[in-house]
Formats: sequence, C-alpha cells, structure tokens
Amino acid sequence: MSQLQAPFTGGPTLNDGVTMPWLGLGVWQTKDGEEVIHAVKSAVEIGYRSIDTAAGYNNEEGVGQAIRECGVPREELFITTKVRNPDQGYESTLQAFEVSRRKLGLDYVDLYLIHWPVKGKYRETWKALIHLQKEGLVKSIGVSNFQIHHLKNIIDDSGVKPVVNQVEFHPLLTQRDLLKYCREQGIQLEAWSPLMQGHLDLPLLQELAARYGKTPAQIVLRWDLQQGVITIPKSVHAERIRENAGIFDFTLSDDDVKALEELNQNHRFGPDPDNFNF
Ligand SMILES: NC(=O)c1ccc[n+]([C@@H]2O[C@H](COP(=O)([O-])OP(=O)(O)OC[C@H]3O[C@@H](n4cnc5c(N)ncnc54)[C@H](OP(=O)(O)O)[C@@H]3O)[C@@H](O)[C@H]2O)c1
Repeated sequence: MSQLQAPFTGGPTLNDGVTMPWLGLGVWQTKDGEEVIHAVKSAVEIGYRSIDTAAGYNNEEGVGQAIRECGVPREELFITTKVRNPDQGYESTLQAFEVSRRKLGLDYVDLYLIHWPVKGKYRETWKALIHLQKEGLVKSIGVSNFQIHHLKNIIDDSGVKPVVNQVEFHPLLTQRDLLKYCREQGIQLEAWSPLMQGHLDLPLLQELAARYGKTPAQIVLRWDLQQGVITIPKSVHAERIRENAGIFDFTLSDDDVKALEELNQNHRFGPDPDNFNF
C-alpha cells in the first residue's frame, strides 16, 4: 500500500516490467484543440504523468501538442491510446497505429489498447499489437472492455497476456469476477468512468466525503486505488483535475471500502462488451 502514497509517478509494475502511474487524466469527450491542450497541460502542471486518449476520441493531435509544449520530458510521460473498432484486424491495425502515432507526434506510445473486443476481429488485432511491441513502437500492450472469455481467447492464441484491461468500474459496477480473474492472471485492471460520468450524488459517497473531509470524487477514486485498480478520471477544469489528484493523503477503512463495494448494481453507464454494435 505504501506505493499508494506516492502521487503521480509511483504505480503498479505491469506484467512486462513497466511501471504505470496509478492516476491518469482521461480525455474522452474533451474537444481537440484548446480544450484538450488546456486539460493536458493543467494536469501535467499539477503533476499527472499519465494521459488516456484513443483514436476514437478525435483529440490525439491536441494531446500531442500539449505533450510537446508541457515542458516535461517525453520519457517522464505515460501516453495511452487505442485502436478504434472500424480499424481492427491485423494490417488495418498496423496502419491505424501509424496514423495515431503521427497525430500524437510521438516516436513511441507507452500503452496501446484494443478499444473493444470486436467479434471476429479482436484476435487478429491482438497479433498486430504484439508485432508493434516487437518493433519497439509501443512499450506495452493491453486491452479494454474485455470480459474473461475474450481475455482467455487472446492468451490461448498468442501466449501473450495483456498488461492492462481498461473497463468500466465504479461502485455501481464493481466487476468482482473480472477483477479476481485479472488479479490471478497478473493483468492490471484500469477503471474507466470511475466518477460514474459525474453521477456522484450517492448518499454513501456524500456521507464518506463529510466523514473523511474529502469530496465524493476523491472518495471514489481512492476506493479504486485501495483495490489495486488504476484510475483515469476526466475533467476539463483545472480545479477538478487538481481535486481528483487529492487521493494520496488519506486511507479509507476496510469497512468503508466494503460498504462502497456493496453498492454494486451491475449498472453500466456505457455499452455492454458482450452486446455492442459499433
Ligand atoms: N476504454 C473505454 O471504452 C472507455 C470508455 C469511457 C471512458 N474511457 C476513459 O476513461 C476516462 C474517464 O471516464 P469518463 O470520461 O467516461 O467519465 P468520468 O471520469 O467518470 O467522469 C467525467 C465527468 O465527471 C465530471 N467531473 C470530473 N471531476 C469531477 C469532480 N471532481 N467532481 C464532480 N464532477 C467531476 C466531468 O466534468 P468536467 O469535465 O466538466 O469537469 C465529466 O462530466 C475517459 O475520459 C477516457 O479516457 C474509456
């Protein structure tokens, strides 16, 4: 748990030996241009070193500009992007990666993810990611929105485990079986929509916020860390980006961690990985 006291740079060691920060900035629905440049620069100034984008967010160019202008050396940053669904397949993923890399203006990407397990495609996409890693263009490779059966398929095919599975994860969707499987396999879980897309008005969150002298957002993000889950809250506001990083100076009791877990309703704000059509 001591690592959890180290803001921004301390983080779990992934199954390929790379260290990834516990906390990153998400930029889904952050507009390309001024908005994303401001969000990323604010985050880096506050101390964030990890940024989570995707080809599908249409803001890789702005993220890249912010990286170049933020004043922190490239090697100190941890940049994630993802291959979008229409680009999946072996050759098309290699091409899509090159487009992302050029938009970001980077020599390499720290973490490249399969955004969704597109039926009939994701197993070939995984092979392309393995190739990109061998070429040194991507430091680490992982997946997003994979259920246990998707994970088993790519591991059986290739013998290569993803380092990360980035999934929807919050007190209303606690993903117990998936979390257990990923822990057993040494696959790091990473929470998307950790703030339930802003739906922070749950009475227990409010109560814990008052008791710990923290905000509901900080309570839920700290809850991620104490379960060993990486978290990537999104905000376009510098003051909220700062607030969301105020999670390394307090500890929730085991009972409170459990009480939050018991809010689970298997409720998704986003699509179901076993039933989507995009
Ligand atoms: N792999 C995937 O399929 C996938 C899917 C979804 C998301 N993601 C990733 O996960 C990241 C986070 O998820 P998300 O963007 O869906 O939602 P989120 O982080 O759960 O919530 C973001 C929302 O909460 C608001 N907010 C931020 N900080 C707040 C605070 N301290 N207090 C109150 N409200 C706050 C934001 O508004 P303001 O911006 O106005 O502050 C925004 O409306 C994304 O940005 C993306 O990088 C990945």
